[in-house]
Amino acid sequence: MASNESSPIIEVRNVTVRYGNRTVLDNVSLSVVPREIRVILGPSGCGKTTLLKTILGLLVPASGSVWLFGTQVGDLDSQETMSLLKRAGILFQNGALLGSLTVEENVALPLQMHTKLPPALVREIVHLKLSQVGLGQAAPLLPEELSGGMRKRAALARALVLDPPVLFCDEPSAGLDPVTAAGLDELLLSLRSSLSITILVVTHELASIEAIADNIVFLYKGGVLYEGPLSGAKLLAEGPVFDFFMRKDSAPGRTQAASEFPFLVEQTA
Ligand SMILES: Nc1ncnc2c1ncn2[C@@H]1O[C@H](COP(=O)(O)OP(=O)(O)OP(=O)(O)O)[C@@H](O)[C@H]1O
Ligand SMILES: [Mg+2]
Repeated sequence: MASNESSPIIEVRNVTVRYGNRTVLDNVSLSVVPREIRVILGPSGCGKTTLLKTILGLLVPASGSVWLFGTQVGDLDSQETMSLLKRAGILFQNGALLGSLTVEENVALPLQMHTKLPPALVREIVHLKLSQVGLGQAAPLLPEELSGGMRKRAALARALVLDPPVLFCDEPSAGLDPVTAAGLDELLLSLRSSLSITILVVTHELASIEAIADNIVFLYKGGVLYEGPLSGAKLLAEGPVFDFFMRKDSAPGRTQAASEFPFLVEQTA
């Protein structure tokens, strides 16, 4: 089955994932359509990264199936898996640039690994990608010479260098100041409109969720507690999803003022 505009580009069907005896994802299903920006959220340790790795075929589910571009992941030999992964840009949670290589060399790596393009063309593509992420001048710099936001952008350029139709980002704005994080959100939105890519993002950042999410998936205790538009999640008046947006934890008096989250004021007024 080939993907088209109307069929999901990512489909997770009744997936259960275990580490040893411990079930981390329990019968999880979701689907993402082309050009959607889908945000995965939920408490730390609830299985967001595990879900991403499972979708990418890096973890094998105990049961259920994952479909990417209409192809069942995990049903493939290593060469087929590799060619599927070439179509997925990945910004891992702790994904780092190689410190001994310049930005340009880092971004060129996937092209050198997966294509036989001549060096001059590789250089041209790398410079195009760097300018797409606003790093046109940074090509000769080493990662240690970049700010945190610039490093994320360089890693994003590397993730995008093979022109993947889908981009996976695990906590892209972790550790960034709010203004730099907002800039990264803008970049993801503009990449979606200019490149028509589908983006799956794990993030805890409330402002980012508000800025970029078409739909969210809230994972909790191994399951999908909510899947749908943010507006629907905002209507929930209690429970873990509500607590997450209210930044509430079990300790009394830890709820943060709703006025700090303008999008919640209508609900809490
Ligand atoms: N390789 C592994 N072996 C065993 N347990 C693991 C492994 N990777 C993750 N876990 C456990 O599975 C659970 C889910 O981990 P995961 O990294 O998917 O959570 P997460 O939602 O991404 O958390 P965070 O928000 O902190 O990044 C955690 O309890 C974690 O300790
Ligand atoms: Mg994680």
